[in-house]
Formats: sequence, C-alpha cells, structure tokens
Amino acid sequence: MSEAAANGESHGLTIALSKGRILEQTLPLLAAAGIEPAEPPESSRKLVVPTNLAGVRLVIVRASDVPTYVEHGGADLGVAGKDVLMEHGGQGLYEPLDLNIARCRLMVAGEPGADRRPGQLRVATKFVNITRRYYAEQGRQVELIKLYGSMELAPLVGMADLIVDLVDTGNTLRANGLEPLETIAWISSRLVVNKASMKMKHRAIRPLLERLREAVGDEAAAAQA
Ligand code: ATP
Ligand code: PRP
Repeated sequence: MSEAAANGESHGLTIALSKGRILEQTLPLLAAAGIEPAEPPESSRKLVVPTNLAGVRLVIVRASDVPTYVEHGGADLGVAGKDVLMEHGGQGLYEPLDLNIARCRLMVAGEPGADRRPGQLRVATKFVNITRRYYAEQGRQVELIKLYGSMELAPLVGMADLIVDLVDTGNTLRANGLEPLETIAWISSRLVVNKASMKMKHRAIRPLLERLREAVGDEAAAAQA
C-alpha cells in the first residue's frame, strides 16, 4: 500500500487552483460550499494548503498547469479557464460545472484591417493549438508565433499581423492601438474533475459538486437582483 493510501489520503480530495483571479473568484464559491483554506493561499509560499475540512486540501499551481495536474491525478479537482482547457484538449477530464467566473473572450486582434492583409498572416499567441484549429477550420494558412505573454507587443514591433488573446474590457488592446477583430470563444472558468477520481471518490465529490452548483446559482441570482 502506498504511503498516501496508508495515511487515508486516497479518500481525501485535492483541489488545484491558480493564484490571481481564479483563486480570488473561486474562494468565495468554495466558502459557500463549506471549504475554507487554513491560511490565505494568495500570500502564502506554501504550495499545499490544508483547509477546515480534514479530507480536503488545495494545491496552488500555474493556471495553464491545472488541467495537467487533474489529468494525471495530482489533483482530483481543479478550476481552469475554458481557454486553458481548449488549449490543453481536455483529455482525462470531466468538466461538470461552469463556475461563471473570470469571464472574457478569446479573440483575434490587431491593427484595424490587419486580418485583411494580403499574403500569409503571422499570428502571435500563447494559444497555438486553438489558433491552429481556428484557421484550419477556415482553410486559411497562417504562420504561428508562440509567445508566453504580452502578446499585444508583437504587432507593435512588426513581428506579427495578428494576435490571439483574451479580451475583457478591451483596455489593454486600446492602450496599444489594437482592436478586437474576431471572437473565437466566450470564456469562463470551469470545475474539472479527474475521470478516475469521479468514479473512485464519488461519495466525496458528488455532494461538493452539488454545493458548488448551488453557490454558482446563488451568485447568479444575486447578480440579477
Ligand atoms: P499562466 O500563469 O499559466 O500563464 P495566466 O497568467 O494567464 O496563467 P491568469 O491571468 O490568472 O493566469 O488567468 C487565469 C484565467 O483567467 C485565464 O485562463 C482566463 O480564463 C481568465 N482571464 C484571463 N484574463 C482575464 C481578464 N482580463 N478578464 C477576465 N478573465 C480573464
Ligand atoms: C489578460 C489578457 C489581456 C488582458 C485583457 O492579461 O492576456 O492582456 O487580460 O483584459 P482587458 O481586455 O480587460 O484589458 P492579464 O491582465 O491577466 O495579465 P497577464 O496575462 O499578462 O498576467
């Protein structure tokens, strides 16, 4: 028997979250579902954070690593943006609940009219899989340039015609003289669950899922009131 199983951890739940807006917007939903971190994860250097429930712990990972942790069983559950899930491919994961947080759009953006330039367009993005699929579906050949952040810079320095990035208020695009050109997908964060955990730990996961579903519903009702 593994050490984890001997400690009874096979019955516990590990939830993967990322620092920043996901943590900030997920913690109130977890609190409404009865789960509170034992110390503030945003300011802590700890990567494993216990909660008020003996069997539940949080692990703090990069946003784009959440699907990987959940797919490989490093976490039973996680919260990830739909953008990150689309880029990852979603294999090995169930996606049972839209948490309706961190809402934005995944868009093609650039200087006005840049998407109508002749010849092969150069598109800079960290979402290379999504972007490849998007243009392949349209039968358009593009050159992909992989970046890890600050995509808005690429057209400004003449390195790309277009970018594919997240847009919320549009302020970042405007501040850099770019405009939104095409919407690829509407994005919000989703609860994801490891497929094996859903079977093996359904007694713990089902009620948590129900409480989170109620918390999301209450938030939506409060926003409409
Ligand atoms: P990584 O560290 O893995 O590169 P990141 O820096 O993109 O991730 P965040 O900026 O915290 O991580 O974004 C997490 C998620 O929040 C994104 O995957 C997306 O779904 C959503 N998001 C990103 N930017 C915005 C925004 N401006 N408004 C609303 N939601 C956003
Ligand atoms: C995200 C995204 C855009 C910006 C869009 O960046 O990559 O740059 O938000 O939001 P807006 O339309 O409201 O301006 P974020 O603020 O998360 O910074 P980072 O990805 O560089 O960490």
